[in-house]
Amino acid sequence: MNIKQIENRYYMHTYNRNNLVVKKAKDQFIWDIYKNRYLDFFSGIGVCGVGHSNKNVIKAIKTQLKKFIHISNLYYAPIQIKLAKLLTRKIFSNAKIFFSNSGAEANECAIKLTRKWGALNPSKNGNRYEIICFNNSFHGRTMSTLSATGQNKFHNYFKPLQDKFVFAEINKINSVIKLINEKTVAIMIEPIQGEGGIIVSEKSFLKELRKICNNENLILIFDEVQCGIGRTGKFYAFENYDIIPDIVTVAKSLANGLPLGATIASERCAETFVYGDHGSTFGGNPISCASAVAVLKIMNTKFLNNSLKIAKYFRKKLEDLKNKHSIIKEIRGVGLMLGIDLDINNGQKIVELCMNNGLIINCTHETVIRFLPPLIITKEDVNYAVKILDKVLADVTF
Ligand SMILES: Cc1ncc(COP(=O)(O)O)c(C=O)c1O
Repeated sequence: MNIKQIENRYYMHTYNRNNLVVKKAKDQFIWDIYKNRYLDFFSGIGVCGVGHSNKNVIKAIKTQLKKFIHISNLYYAPIQIKLAKLLTRKIFSNAKIFFSNSGAEANECAIKLTRKWGALNPSKNGNRYEIICFNNSFHGRTMSTLSATGQNKFHNYFKPLQDKFVFAEINKINSVIKLINEKTVAIMIEPIQGEGGIIVSEKSFLKELRKICNNENLILIFDEVQCGIGRTGKFYAFENYDIIPDIVTVAKSLANGLPLGATIASERCAETFVYGDHGSTFGGNPISCASAVAVLKIMNTKFLNNSLKIAKYFRKKLEDLKNKHSIIKEIRGVGLMLGIDLDINNGQKIVELCMNNGLIINCTHETVIRFLPPLIITKEDVNYAVKILDKVLADVTF
């Protein structure tokens, strides 16, 4: 049996894997078992932000490996506390963090924190627990993050979902205001929806949300699992909007490929949790934390500004493609989180054709080609990718 047949036999059929068996990956490139090289413009769903097998990340991991792999959260691991200090200092003074293993867990923690905060800060008629989320959002696959996700296709067969998550429309402030009542405790939003098709929040909309949360004493949660950690050219996506949320969740590229999620909360929320309220055996494991500390060192302002420069160049090239190919409806995104909205509903075919030509990209929401390249890509990489896209878009038939 070949690897595909073995996978088919032994692995639950939850993934629609591309026809690529990976041998190795370095920086912005992947090689398959036949020695074909691919330019990776997806970085493992936006995870390897500083590139595959980054040498400083590997060095940091090795250093920690030689010390210890796991001791549990019943003791102090210096590298974990170092990372906690670095990440919280990047947001607000007096912020506190909780480490988990994934984006869904980081959001789960945010939801729990908010629920308890709502119990401690009730309205005159009792606890507040309702969270306003958004249509088209994606917050994870655990039962509560699934319940917070505003896309029915993920809900099929998993009902009953948890209730007390209600849904507004992104960039439509009245749809949010209409949902606020005495039970409302928080608003939870991806500043840039990823799985939902690269939908960008307007700055004025997010500022309005901040204002509403201040006026109504609500918690503003930003899910930056996909759009955070340098993806938009700023370390946190919220830095693009001149506002600060009360809770930020990050994961994906935080540890550049090792599992790590983080829920970072302002003091007024963070102090809500006390001993016994939350926990994780593996959360914030020392190897992942060592990797993340290395990522933070690499992602300095110069690095991020350079990624923004490339992002602008890439966007311009995509706009040029739009002028050439009528199949392209719109180019959307911020920084190196970009999408091409197509006038057809089979974007996966374009993904496959690009892969056959040596370019790894992704399709989300059936119609949106999504780019989440490592932040280290160069102009030459962009030219190479756009050339392949141009050819594929010219040749493709549906
Ligand atoms: C915005 C957002 N939140 C949460 C998640 C869930 O993250 P994970 O798959 O690490 O649980 C994702 C994953 O794609 C995401 O894009």
